Amino acid sequence: MKIALIPGDGIGPDIIEEAVKVINAVGEKKQISFEFITYLAGGAAIDQTGIPLPEATLEGCKKSDAVLLGAVGGPQWDTLPGHLRPERGLLGLRKGMELFANLRPALLFPQLKAASTLKEEVIGDGIDIMVVRELTGGIYFGDRGRNEEGTRSAYDMETYSEPEIDRITRIGFEIAKKRKKKLTSIDKANILETSRLWREVAERVAKEYPEVELHHMYVDNCAMQLIRNPHQFDVMVTSNMFGDILSDEASMLTGSLGMLPSASLGSGKLGMYEPIHGSAPDIAGQDIANPIAAILSAAMMFRYSFEMEAEAVMIEEAVARVLEAGYRTKDIMEKDMKLVGTKEMGSLIAEEIKKM
Ligand code: NAD
Ligand code: IPM
Ligand code: MN
Repeated sequence: MKIALIPGDGIGPDIIEEAVKVINAVGEKKQISFEFITYLAGGAAIDQTGIPLPEATLEGCKKSDAVLLGAVGGPQWDTLPGHLRPERGLLGLRKGMELFANLRPALLFPQLKAASTLKEEVIGDGIDIMVVRELTGGIYFGDRGRNEEGTRSAYDMETYSEPEIDRITRIGFEIAKKRKKKLTSIDKANILETSRLWREVAERVAKEYPEVELHHMYVDNCAMQLIRNPHQFDVMVTSNMFGDILSDEASMLTGSLGMLPSASLGSGKLGMYEPIHGSAPDIAGQDIANPIAAILSAAMMFRYSFEMEAEAVMIEEAVARVLEAGYRTKDIMEKDMKLVGTKEMGSLIAEEIKKM
């Protein structure tokens, strides 16, 4: 298995190191060998090559079996023009590999009930929502620009084609079919034309999935419903920007942004696995970042790119056991628990795998 590593910026390198520890523990246990190749993207690439996505990175990633990415970005690159910013490197990777479907599972580990910002009665018997975010279209990739003459103005265009909506809603239905058979499509169809087309296409695709219940919801209502009654959601499918925002919100239901992994998938086996959080410059290099989102992203890599479900479950179970034993990074720390750093959390999870 050839794994491309893109540590990136800020806490990216801190958490990727721990994910690699855990992948190697699985390798040792199951006698699988991995070849890791590290590539530059984001701010780290700008500093060394002048651009956020060197050609060698994209080419190398395309030739790998999977890509594991930390995070990109940071204040030192915030004043660069848009096309040279670190974040553009990440968008280039997603687009370049045609990874149009981003799965963001908001799953509350029962051990973290107290870390969730929701009241116990709202959490009930747990939270388990799969956010399916469109990743290579919409306002992220539309025309944008400025008019500098006279009164200055700027614009960002949102466009969605029927095939783009078709393939992402289909993924939503496929996933819902294997879960509780409820799909909520999130849009702003009361205002946006892209959303009205989105609804039409979702309704058409729904005819092929009679066993799945399709609901539509406006994004503003959804932001509220997520914290009012998260149990009404099973699978959510939505556009690039709405999915970005709603998944950060959903992460807090699970205790911390540092808990939420993601898989970015296309039509083949190749996928990119990335925590949903950013480079957290405020805590970079201090051994306090939570590496679990990155580690759970590695579990998703085993599940989706390698089709090794047992190994994915092994990692998820190891995380659950370490939480059960009371170990917590700062972001999920509660009274009477044992505070550990990034490295120790990674080591504990790797050790747990070796014990299995
Ligand atoms: P952020 O996700 O980096 O951080 C938001 C808050 O959450 C911060 O207080 C941070 O300390 C905390 N946090 C994030 N991850 C954590 C973890 N694993 N453990 C503990 N705490 C964690 O978002 P931001 O501050 O808005 O953005 C910082 C930079 O990251 C920006 O340059 C942004 O563009 C970039 N960014 C990158 C990605 C990505 O690479 N996928 C995602 C989001 C933001
Ligand atoms: C994410 C991030 C990225 C996004 C940025 C850094 C381009 O916020 O992965 O959620 O908006 O997709
Ligand atoms: Mn985001």
